[in-house]
Amino acid sequence: MCGIIGIVSNKSVSASIIGALKKLEYRGYDSAGISTISNGQINEQKCSGRVDNLEKILFQNPSRGDLGIGHVRWATHGIPNQINAHPHSSDVVSVVHNGIIENSDQLRKEYKEKGYTFKSQTDTEVITIMLTDFLKKNHLIDCIHKTLEKLEGSFALGVIFKDFDNLVVGARRGSPLAVGYGHNENFIGSDSYALKSMTNKISYLDDGDFCILYKEKVEFYNLDKKKINKEIFELSSEDNTAEKGDYRDFMSKEINEQSVTTKKCINEYLDKSRNEINIYNLPIDPSKINKIRLIACGTAYHSCLMAKYWIEEFTSLDVEADIASEFRYRKIKFNSNDLYIFVSQSGETADTYAALEKCKKNQVKTCGIVNVVESSIARMADFVLPIHAGPEIGVASTKAFIGQLIVLYLLTLKISKERGDINTEEYLKLVLDLKKLPELIEETLNKQNDIQLIARDFIKAKGTMYLGRGYSYPIAMEGALKLKELSYIHAEGYAAGEMKHGPLALIEDGMPVVVLAPKDRFFEKTISNMQEVIARGGKVLMITDDTSETMNENIRFKFQIPKTNSSINSFLLTIPIQFLAYHVALLKNCDIDKPRNLAKSVTVE
Ligand code: AGP
Repeated sequence: MCGIIGIVSNKSVSASIIGALKKLEYRGYDSAGISTISNGQINEQKCSGRVDNLEKILFQNPSRGDLGIGHVRWATHGIPNQINAHPHSSDVVSVVHNGIIENSDQLRKEYKEKGYTFKSQTDTEVITIMLTDFLKKNHLIDCIHKTLEKLEGSFALGVIFKDFDNLVVGARRGSPLAVGYGHNENFIGSDSYALKSMTNKISYLDDGDFCILYKEKVEFYNLDKKKINKEIFELSSEDNTAEKGDYRDFMSKEINEQSVTTKKCINEYLDKSRNEINIYNLPIDPSKINKIRLIACGTAYHSCLMAKYWIEEFTSLDVEADIASEFRYRKIKFNSNDLYIFVSQSGETADTYAALEKCKKNQVKTCGIVNVVESSIARMADFVLPIHAGPEIGVASTKAFIGQLIVLYLLTLKISKERGDINTEEYLKLVLDLKKLPELIEETLNKQNDIQLIARDFIKAKGTMYLGRGYSYPIAMEGALKLKELSYIHAEGYAAGEMKHGPLALIEDGMPVVVLAPKDRFFEKTISNMQEVIARGGKVLMITDDTSETMNENIRFKFQIPKTNSSINSFLLTIPIQFLAYHVALLKNCDIDKPRNLAKSVTVE
């Protein structure tokens, strides 16, 4: 949820820290700060708001020193202001933290009784005070170890010490922390994306590890204070310079990239000459799978909901889609013949990671579908299927959602064929239809101006609803989430058939309602639900592939998507609901790439 950077170098680190914080800002952006050591003193500077604000402060009062730490925050304990911003420093220690210290109240009480005073409302400050206290009577490594032992909850830490002006300490439990190797300088960062511009050699701390960075070497220690070695990964050479280019914002770039990323993802998995899906070595032989369980959060959960319909349709398997924050606490009946699939763009979402850990503890087979192949979920799962969408910077997930759908669809077809649930002819038809998808997405992307016209209907709306049946229902859920998180307008995704069981009471004159009605086997039933809404004054945006001119008289607006195999309509339905949320947010002057209260990677509960 927050972003951490630490650097020890043979040259001034302030500019590099600020540059890394800007790359980390998608993880949290309500306050920012930096600490360095210069002239034997800790020099802490921090502020509320964006990294730009911090940069202005440093312009007036530069942070000197060749080692330091930096932080961008998404507030969990204590309002987002300058006092609660990280780093949190005493006169001998400065700390940045990502995670939640669950026993911070008890520790705060304990150290207040020892005579310490606290300046902030944060849980993080207890770490600063504990390190300060332990330093009085312990060597550095024992001080770190004793502090970590007393902490309960999750953390990724960056720490610098006034009396050790040649090192930076990093520690990890439950929140990601990467180590980067430079020339006469070394780094820690919340993810490799922040480090990629400074190095392509990365190691990852595992839970319980801590590390000591010097400019010429890095030492790793495990839970028992034993020195350990860490594998060094060469970062993927994929285009990691996620820049906006000519686009106004990352979200519009990432929406418009979707025909390209779809093509790239399909090409990664499909042998186009043999029309064969290259997914092998699943952790369970497909013919022996008893049930599939899909687990994720937010938009990734909606891709799981979509996959549930595909798996039910194309295989004889039982399937469930679960919200990770619920799954992780439910009394799950684990079965060694079930396949547990975790979907996560960042690969760092705390609830999804915790659900995966729960499955690992129960020795069942797991698969991770991620966009970040170096992420914690990717490294913990038995089997990883990357979505190859490239860095997704906009907090509202768009191209990653489409990438998740592609991989889930391909996996479904592969499992179905391996099990003999569909025959070769059916399999080939579905694969050939899928191969045409990138062009159909491109065709749909080229119609975004139509959506701009209708977006005005929504900006004054008290609320709205997105309705769909069958394959359209998960997309209705996703459309509602997109509108909520981008424009802050209340929106509900609903099964169209459920409207008459209560929500129809919400419909009042002039209320905008989005109805997803492709000409599939539910079309007539969905049209009846739509007419019930119109009869009560609802202003309907109908998204359909129906070319007939019927029913137009009472429809406020009809957006037409290209015709294709009904099982992949959901990809095309997704484009207009993304554009709708985007253009409504634009008309409301909302922050498109960094909506209020949100963060790109929710690495706390
Ligand atoms: C997406 O628009 C949302 N910002 C959010 O729901 C996101 O999908 C969710 O937090 C899961 O993130 P993940 O895919 O990185 O696990």
